Amino acid sequence: MTFILNQANSIANNMLKELRDKNLQQDRARFRQHVEKLGSILAFEISKHLPYKAENVETPLGTSTIQVLSEQPVLITVLRAGIPFFQGFQYFFDQADCGFVGAQRKENGEAITIDLDYLTSPALEGKQLIMIDPMLATGKSFVKAVEALLRYGKPAHVYIAALVAAPEGIAYLKEKLKLPYSVYTCALDEKLNAQSYIVPGLGDAGDLSYGEKI
Ligand code: URA
Repeated sequence: MTFILNQANSIANNMLKELRDKNLQQDRARFRQHVEKLGSILAFEISKHLPYKAENVETPLGTSTIQVLSEQPVLITVLRAGIPFFQGFQYFFDQADCGFVGAQRKENGEAITIDLDYLTSPALEGKQLIMIDPMLATGKSFVKAVEALLRYGKPAHVYIAALVAAPEGIAYLKEKLKLPYSVYTCALDEKLNAQSYIVPGLGDAGDLSYGEKI
């Protein structure tokens, strides 16, 4: 299942437009804030599909029964680009256990490979796992991270959360990911370019949030 937020009109589109705008992108704080807000919106959308249980709460006037999350999902993000997006998820899943993955894109001529150099995670067995990375480009970092995380247990379901996705990345997940999963993205773009950047996309999400790396 692929959920695409901008298939329905909402105020989220205004944030997406500003994120993509090469002039407004100069304002790093604004960029991070919009990424964070869109993270919260996707967290809300994913929350509709998590397991719930009925609980009672005593008000000053009586008892109300309400469906609440059975348990918090586990949130895992990819450093460094994922940090603002992840913070948006943390506003809603505010008691969640969290893990972090350090992933570097390496360009070897035509081919892009992903090096994982840092990995830390809580137990994942039977959990609802949300993998948070703003750009679902080739899909290789998501797949590599999920495979590496299996040493912490097999999640019941993996939610792949992205700001912008490319069709090539969605196809790669379909081919490689052998766990139950769904994709949640704010926008599904046209394609990847020769350097595996999303077109039209928004550029390098990590650089736009934190400055160009050398
Ligand atoms: N990573 C980015 O930051 N941007 C892309 O377009 C693809 C991968």
